[in-house]
Amino acid sequence: NPKIAVFASGTGSNYNAIMHAIECKELHAEVALLVSDQPTAKVLEKAEKYETETFVFQPKDYPNKASFESAILQALQHAQVEWLVLAGYMRLVGKTLLEHYEGKIINIHPSLLPAFPGLDAIGQAFQAGVKVSGVTIHFVDEGMDTGSIIAQHPVLIEEGMSRDDLQTAIQKVEHSLYPKTIQQLIN
Ligand code: GAR
Repeated sequence: NPKIAVFASGTGSNYNAIMHAIECKELHAEVALLVSDQPTAKVLEKAEKYETETFVFQPKDYPNKASFESAILQALQHAQVEWLVLAGYMRLVGKTLLEHYEGKIINIHPSLLPAFPGLDAIGQAFQAGVKVSGVTIHFVDEGMDTGSIIAQHPVLIEEGMSRDDLQTAIQKVEHSLYPKTIQQLIN
């Protein structure tokens, strides 16, 4: 099975969905490493439960992005990782990782890109009053949510829905779309 690394900064519900899909044999992959830039992130508790090896770092402990990405790269290569799967990793990927994993880095974003890139895409869509938002999975390039699109799924914003309702609906789509799309890609 292809080895993947999940990159996450937060709760890790998408990491969880990926692990669940692997357990259920819907996704034939191995999460060989979880990379996190947040030592107190909830995702780390989930990784402990699943016994996923972790690489946790703080950018402030390194002089620059190239140096912390070199440290990540070393951990990825040690674990023989082939694919990088960003799941709520709230940081731009730099040259060091892009050069080594060109075409093998994907991200999930909670809007129909190119609408609402960047932070709080769900809040942005809610504020804008659009009737349809959704989920995008795309290849990662040096830009912010700009790489070529692999898969999208719409979510309707119905009358009376709160921002939290929209988040729940979007995350539900994410948790099924991400494992399915990863499986199609790595095949
Ligand atoms: C997800 O909704 C993901 O789409 C979003 O962060 C959340 C992480 O949730 N990513 C971005 O906004 C990237 N620009 P999780 O930690 O529960 O998987």
